[in-house]
Amino acid sequence: MTLAGQTAIVTGGARGIGKAIALALAGAGARVAICHYQDPQAGATLAELQAHAPALEMSADVADEAQVIGFFDRVEAELGRPGIVVSNAGILHEAPFAETSVEDFDRVIAVNLRGTFLTTREAARRMEKGRILTIASDLGLLGRERLGSYCASKGGVISLTRSLARELAPDILVNAIAPGSVATDMTSPESMSAEALAKDLATPLARFGKPEEIAAMALFLAGPGAGFVTGQVIGVNGGSAMY
Ligand code: NAI
Repeated sequence: MTLAGQTAIVTGGARGIGKAIALALAGAGARVAICHYQDPQAGATLAELQAHAPALEMSADVADEAQVIGFFDRVEAELGRPGIVVSNAGILHEAPFAETSVEDFDRVIAVNLRGTFLTTREAARRMEKGRILTIASDLGLLGRERLGSYCASKGGVISLTRSLARELAPDILVNAIAPGSVATDMTSPESMSAEALAKDLATPLARFGKPEEIAAMALFLAGPGAGFVTGQVIGVNGGSAMY
C-alpha cells in the first residue's frame, strides 16, 4: 500500500498516538504535516518524518480558529492540498465531578471537541476527496468516574464524526478510532491517578495498547482497503468496550 503523492495532516502529532500515526503515514510515502501545542519533541519528530518524505511541523492550538486556519494554509502552500486529515490532538483532565471548575471543563471541550470541529471543518473546506479520521476514546462510549469532561468531549467527537460521514459522502470518508488505554504521556502516573490506571488495565487483554497499534488502524482507514468504511467508531481497545 502506498500513499505516495498524498498530503496528510495529523494534529497533536509530535508525540504519542499522533506521532505513531504520522510516522505510519510517512512510512507509506505521504507528505505529513503535524501541529502541536508548543511541544519540545516536535523537532525530533519532524526529523523522523523527513527521513521518509517532505514534512513540516508547526505549533498551532487546535482550539484557536485562526491558528488552525493558519496551519492548514501553510500546509497547503508547502505540501499541497490535504487528502488525509487526522484530528488527534487532545487533553485529559481528571477530577471529582463536583470539584471540576468551569475553566477546566471549558479547556477540555475546547481542545478535544472544538479542536476536532475546527480541524475537520478546515478539512471539509479544502479536501476534494479523501479520508478524515478522528481520535475519540472508548471512554466516549463508556463514561468514567472523575473524567466527566473528557468523556463528554469524546462523546461529542463521536457524534460529530457520524454527522460528517453522512454530510461529506461519497467523496470524503469519515471514521473515528476509539482507542482504549494506550501507553503515552497522557496515561503516565504524572497525568492519571493510580486508581484510574488500574481501571484501564481491567480489560480482557489486561495491558495498555501501543501507539503503533492505533497507527496500524489509522493507516488502514487512510488506505484503499477501507473504501467502503465510513461513519464507523472503531475500537482498538483490548476489549474494553464491545459494540
Ligand atoms: P499525548 O499527551 O501523548 O500527546 C498529545 C499531543 O497533542 C502532543 O503532541 C501535544 O502537543 C498535542 N496537543 C495537546 N493540546 C494541543 C492543542 N491544544 N493544540 C494542538 N496540539 C495539542 O496524548 P496521546 O495519549 O497521544 O493522545 C492522543 C489522542 O488520543 C488524544 O485525543 C487522546 O484523547 C486520545 N486517546 C488517548 C488514549 C490514551 O490512553 N493515551 C486513549 C484514548 C484516546
